[in-house]
Amino acid sequence: MQDIIRQLEEKRDRARVGGGERRIGNQHGKGKLTARERLELLLDEGSFEEWDMFVEHRCVDFGMADNRIPGDGVVTGYGTINGRLVFVFSQDFTVFGGALSESHAEKICKVMDKALQVGAPVIGLNDSGGARIQEGVDSLAGYAEVFQRNVEASGVVPQLSLIMGPCAGGAVYSPAMTDFIFMVQDSSYMFVTGPEVVKTVTHETVTSEELGGAITHTSKSGVADLAFENDVEALQRTRQIFDFLPLSNREQPPVRPTTDSPNREEPSLDTLVPPSPNKPYDMKELIEKVVDEKDFFEIQPDYAKNIIVGLARMEGRTVGVVANQPMVLAGCLDIDSSRKAARFVRFCDCFNIPIVTFVDVPGFLPGTTQEYGGIIKHGAKLLYAFAEATVPKVTVITRKAYGGAYDVMSSKHLRGDVNYAWPTAEIAVMGPKGAVEIIFRQEAKDPEKLEERTEEYRSKFANPFVAASRGFLDDVIMPHGTRRRLCRALAMLRDKKRDNPWKKHSNIPL
Ligand code: COA
Repeated sequence: MQDIIRQLEEKRDRARVGGGERRIGNQHGKGKLTARERLELLLDEGSFEEWDMFVEHRCVDFGMADNRIPGDGVVTGYGTINGRLVFVFSQDFTVFGGALSESHAEKICKVMDKALQVGAPVIGLNDSGGARIQEGVDSLAGYAEVFQRNVEASGVVPQLSLIMGPCAGGAVYSPAMTDFIFMVQDSSYMFVTGPEVVKTVTHETVTSEELGGAITHTSKSGVADLAFENDVEALQRTRQIFDFLPLSNREQPPVRPTTDSPNREEPSLDTLVPPSPNKPYDMKELIEKVVDEKDFFEIQPDYAKNIIVGLARMEGRTVGVVANQPMVLAGCLDIDSSRKAARFVRFCDCFNIPIVTFVDVPGFLPGTTQEYGGIIKHGAKLLYAFAEATVPKVTVITRKAYGGAYDVMSSKHLRGDVNYAWPTAEIAVMGPKGAVEIIFRQEAKDPEKLEERTEEYRSKFANPFVAASRGFLDDVIMPHGTRRRLCRALAMLRDKKRDNPWKKHSNIPL
């Protein structure tokens, strides 16, 4: 018996060392942790249950028959994060460059299948040279099996991807279908084709970092949600976002006790909106002052900054925040911000997370770039997302809510549950100056008259009371009492039930 136990231990030790000490050294030399070290940081201490440690590839071509490493380049299993179940896979770059073989894919599929059956999130740590070249189509088949599961799990269990090394070619499409992608600066990159192919085809000279590094994807393409300085920070922040999320679409998000009173008043909010309608202010200040303990987990902070999205808590319960940012493009909606916010709203709706929307939007961004880029379809995504969302929706208009953008931003008409405005709100088809120039065009040469008309328009429309008189707003509230009013509305809506009509699936404009 002792002998068998010793043999087992030896086998385990062999698997744990992956591609060997030299390659582990190389990995550390690049500032990266190993697959197992990463899991130790991600999961609660001692909680990891590993599966398929002894799985090996079945390839016999190109000398692979004699080149087998137990585990086959990916560490898989389940564990807990702050006591809550999560399934994980962590690609091991020290084993065949973390390249994905048939067996490697089967290991990932096994944890994904179980996660779906028991209803728990999947977190994938990606660090791989892509499809295992020696296996040919078998590895491509493996990718597609993972993709299929990503799609089936979408909206059922949260899926998070951390890109902690190379992720190229077909490999990018699994993370692309997950809910969030986090990247590590300087050591990770994602692209469909690498710099060499780009050079051959388009004659562009570009580095891996420029083409698909963390900064590129979190600020230019919007493919990734957050960039972190190193592996440790990425893993710690992943634990934080995990705490906001329910385990599956069958559950409510977890509740975290807080000492922050729902009745807390914020007198400084009464002067947040400047007297001049053309002066910006920082919408993040409002968010941070209203949510529990100023704890706002912003998502995509460096992309489409004219809209802010992220997770926070009110009375300990997770909410998704969507807010126009007047500091950037005056808070206009454009293609990027519409897509960014639409995807976030749909994420919240999938996972029973109420949505709080703060509105200060002068309209859609005009111009040929926007029109040729398809702002009509992209703007429609955000409208569609708010309209189909059945989770509690609470909206506060702080200042401008002009034109179609007023409708889009979780208005009463898109089944907003509770819609409030601050007294500074202006709800109209457009701003006073533009409106007067159109409807009183014949008086354009008379500045005095025009000024009179502008004043008339301002007093009639540049306020929240016309909308309130129609019932499109439930109340005009004091800025300092915003937290209290939001907490009450969300508590009232806690057991909201609303269903959309049966359909196979919707056909959101893409
Ligand atoms: N299939 C099989 N083995 C692979 C592999 C793949 N796709 N990618 C990397 N490897 C192996 C390498 O042969 C090497 O093995 P070794 O340690 O036994 O020498 C090991 O993984 C590490 O790769 P290496 O090239 O030394 O690392 P690097 O950090 O210098 O470069 C890459 C990393 C990913 C840029 C490089 O390995 C690469 O270009 N890989 C191929 C990518 C690709 O075209 N994939 C297929 C399309 S999806």
